[in-house]
Amino acid sequence: MSSNPTWVLRRFPSGLPATDDFRLEDRPEPVPGPGELLVRTLWLSVDPYMRARLSTAQNYAAGQALGEMMVGGGVGEVIRSESPLFQPGEIVLSDDFGWQPVTKVPAASALRLDPSAAPVQTALGCLGMPGLTAYFALLHTGSPKAGETVLISAASGAVGQVAGQIARIKGLDPVAVAGSEDKLDSCRSMGYRAGINHRGADLQAAIAEACPKGIDVFLDNTAGPIHDAALLNMNRFGRIVVVGTVALASRFDQPDIGPRYLRRFLVQRLRMEGFLLDDFEAQYATARAQLLQWYRQGKLTPREDVLEGIDQVPAAFVRMLKGENFGKQLVRL
Ligand SMILES: NC(=O)c1ccc[n+]([C@@H]2O[C@H](COP(=O)([O-])OP(=O)(O)OC[C@H]3O[C@@H](n4cnc5c(N)ncnc54)[C@H](OP(=O)(O)O)[C@@H]3O)[C@@H](O)[C@H]2O)c1
Repeated sequence: MSSNPTWVLRRFPSGLPATDDFRLEDRPEPVPGPGELLVRTLWLSVDPYMRARLSTAQNYAAGQALGEMMVGGGVGEVIRSESPLFQPGEIVLSDDFGWQPVTKVPAASALRLDPSAAPVQTALGCLGMPGLTAYFALLHTGSPKAGETVLISAASGAVGQVAGQIARIKGLDPVAVAGSEDKLDSCRSMGYRAGINHRGADLQAAIAEACPKGIDVFLDNTAGPIHDAALLNMNRFGRIVVVGTVALASRFDQPDIGPRYLRRFLVQRLRMEGFLLDDFEAQYATARAQLLQWYRQGKLTPREDVLEGIDQVPAAFVRMLKGENFGKQLVRL
């Protein structure tokens, strides 16, 4: 029986997760049943949504149980197929990869990738879940009109970097919020007009200066103080798209208490809407085709942050939640 080092959840994190919240166990390679694929993992994705699964709090998806294998998005090569839909040697994407070198996934959850179309790991970044999130959150829920100012938080990250570039393609005026000057330089090189360092002194004033005409669409990838400061700069009939709450990762399960600016919503007639990518599943194929076209035209240039080896998966997850990643955080096996 081959050895297959597998990460399991050791304890529910308190605050920001730490690498020792996970344990590496030597497990046998899984055996695929009918309708399943055995896959050699090439790339694993670590994503902010995983934080919410390491908790017993109510979420939109099932949580991770203690002692259970960590599961997430991955790309790999089929080495055995118990489904007529796939053949050994094919490269697949699935959200059901274990954090392990050899994994099994249901064929029904697998998407065949064409390695000649784009590097396969882009299916976990700009051409996959984060790219689709940027596409639908901005263009559908955000309902932007040409020339409008779009403020995007976590702007250099997996979702943010795609959102900024789509905004530029669509003739919008994208402004970045990110956690370092290096990240903001990178955002500008990707098409953002201006940038704000959220670790700077007066966030509200900095946003006002960077958005002299105010904000029309705010893609809120973080919640927390960035959200509060952006709210005070929203234009009349502005739209706030609540995409993610990564700034709350360290105080998960606690009430999200901040200033209450409800009157601001009334005075400015603002609309705030929660966004979940799953609601757009019927339109994924069209969006993927558009993202691929932009990628091949050089209009979408992703930045990736890659750690190497199965040992590094929890470290990659933790550094991404701390904002130490620069671009889409991946692990290559
Ligand atoms: N609703 C959906 O369907 C959906 C789908 C995908 C992703 N999302 C959400 O989209 C957001 C971005 O995800 P991603 O995959 O693109 O991650 P990412 O931006 O690549 O990485 C997370 C980033 O969040 C920022 N961050 C972390 N803690 C922060 C804090 N306390 N204050 C401000 N910024 C902080 C850091 O960037 P800085 O250094 O710039 O601070 C960090 O690099 C997440 O909230 C995620 O949950 C939602």
